[in-house]
Amino acid sequence: MKTLYLRIVATTIFVMLLSSVLAFFLSNIYYHYYLKPHNDAKVTKMAVDVQTFFEKNPSLDVDSYLQFVGKLGYQLYIVDSDGKGTFYGGSFRKKDLSSKVIEQVLSGEVYHGINQFPSRLFVTGFFDNVIINTIGVPVTVNGSPTALFIRPNLEVQFGEMRIFFAFLLLLTILLSILFVVVSTRYIVKPIVKLTEATKKISKGNYNIELNVHRRDEIGKLANYFSKMTKSIEQLEEMRQEFVSNVSHEIQSPLASIQGFSQTLQLKNLTDEQRKHYLSIIEDESRRLSQLSKQLLTLASLDKEEGIVDRETYDLATQIKQVLFMTEWNWREKDLAIDLELEPVIITADQKLLHQVWTNLITNGIKYSEEGGTLSLKLQSIEGQAYVEISDTGIGISEKDLPHIFQRFYRADKARNRKEGSSGLGLAITKKIIEMHSGSIQAISEHGKGTTFIIKLPLTP
Ligand SMILES: Nc1ncnc2c1ncn2[C@@H]1O[C@H](COP(=O)(O)OP(=O)(O)OP(=O)(O)O)[C@@H](O)[C@H]1O
Ligand SMILES: [Mg+2]
Repeated sequence: MKTLYLRIVATTIFVMLLSSVLAFFLSNIYYHYYLKPHNDAKVTKMAVDVQTFFEKNPSLDVDSYLQFVGKLGYQLYIVDSDGKGTFYGGSFRKKDLSSKVIEQVLSGEVYHGINQFPSRLFVTGFFDNVIINTIGVPVTVNGSPTALFIRPNLEVQFGEMRIFFAFLLLLTILLSILFVVVSTRYIVKPIVKLTEATKKISKGNYNIELNVHRRDEIGKLANYFSKMTKSIEQLEEMRQEFVSNVSHEIQSPLASIQGFSQTLQLKNLTDEQRKHYLSIIEDESRRLSQLSKQLLTLASLDKEEGIVDRETYDLATQIKQVLFMTEWNWREKDLAIDLELEPVIITADQKLLHQVWTNLITNGIKYSEEGGTLSLKLQSIEGQAYVEISDTGIGISEKDLPHIFQRFYRADKARNRKEGSSGLGLAITKKIIEMHSGSIQAISEHGKGTTFIIKLPLTP
């Protein structure tokens, strides 16, 4: 089947038909096992009443009495010992009755034809208008034994009711089919919308209005679909921005390398000039190499999110090592170092955290003026390592502060370019700290200095 709509309609109609057939079978079984004996007893009581009436009124005009009972809604057959019989009320569909049955009744037995009526699946015995489906009682007419067979005439008793129920059933079926056809459209509509939306997204169009205001599963699906579309759109924007940033970062050092290489080919250059241009080329190549290293780190952190190679070690020793490594830089700027490091044993990825301290300490040095102070503080507070790295440097303006952890974000572009920064350090730092379920926060005042506060759980 081609569409979900047709599938639902067809399935529902099939289920309706199947349940009708099953219900028919089950009600037949119910009639045969439960209602039939009741029905038999009821008609037997009626027949016995007639029989008693005969006994009490021996001079009864049998013919007109039975005609009268027939008109009240019964079918009757009266037969004498010679086999001569007369019908009253409506006629039977099948009139053959074995002579054995007649003889039994003539000899005084009651015949329970309704209860003995064979149980067949397709015919509800109650409605079968045949002579064997009757109750037979012996009566005495003009002194001679006679057999009287009786059953309710359903045509007279339930004629209109039958039409009424048939009409009710037919109307129910037709209306259900009609409503299924209409309501299924309502169920399927949001799915059609979702399919169209998916098509649009696959073509790169993220501007989608679903307008599905339902609270059921399909409503939820549409809701999550809209959310997913928004995050795909954001991701796509981020990807484009990232690619253009990377291209830009690569482009400028390459252009400068190209320009100075051409200049170097000029003949009338002094040794001094030549050395100067070569040192610029060297710096720019170093920048490119640094950039590609940082990009690789970011890519591997993105890809292997959650993979942290933990070791147990002393954080204070590690921070001192980083300080030692950068000694040349802070000595050059004549910075005072203020250390307050308690031994703190942590279980974390040593290599990754090394990158964190390196970036934060080099930032502190890089963005400080000569003669400033760099303070490092380490404590263990409530199962967490608490690290504070502050400088008395240039600070970060209120406008830039919320963005410094973004990839490629640099507050002072011109200055940073000269310093050979790419603006990836803090993005990498934040990522590593989050991988350790920690947090990082920057407090800064423009022109006065910056403090980074890092909190890291001591154990995972
Ligand atoms: N201690 C600080 N003092 C003043 N500004 C800072 C400090 N640390 C970071 N910043 C600002 O935040 C920006 C982002 O820092 P980040 O470490 O991500 O990049 P970067 O140091 O410029 O380059 P990279 O670390 O990739 O070499 C910096 O460009 C700088 O403007
Ligand atoms: Mg940095």
